[in-house]
Amino acid sequence: MNATIPPQKPSSITGIVLWSSKFEIGIPVIDAQHKKLVTLCNNLYKIITSMPASGPGSEEWQNSFFYALHECVDYTQTHFHDEEVLMTAANYEGFAQHKARHTEFVKKVLETAKSMEQPERSTALQFVRFLYDWILSHIAFEDRQFAPPVIEYFKSRNAESELAEK
Ligand SMILES: [Fe+2]
Repeated sequence: MNATIPPQKPSSITGIVLWSSKFEIGIPVIDAQHKKLVTLCNNLYKIITSMPASGPGSEEWQNSFFYALHECVDYTQTHFHDEEVLMTAANYEGFAQHKARHTEFVKKVLETAKSMEQPERSTALQFVRFLYDWILSHIAFEDRQFAPPVIEYFKSRNAESELAEK
């Protein structure tokens, strides 16, 4: 198992993350997606903590781990796409920079996931903490910045339903 987890500051995440209104950015469709993303990370976390403390997990565990990981990554990509649709529609000036952050994150996660052939609990935990830290910090600082123009766009077009129909 040669997984390369991206370098990071020590994580403050010590268990599953309970969704809280403090994470909301004020766009209901995006807040609901962020909440689902945290739930998917929590599922992954629970699977990881169900494995033995040392040595690779059983084949069944590995399957559950990769299934949950892919669910999390796939949903992240869908969610990023939806955010990008809204930022474009709202003519958000920071769009290119924001999209680049999404692309960089997905690339890093896919590379890391690919390098994890038979992850052990400690490596898998380090990885899910990286996911939590990146996602929660991205929501708190970067996503919050596109909320005002998108909310304005919705007000002018009554358009939140456009995304749901896509
Ligand atoms: Fe984002």
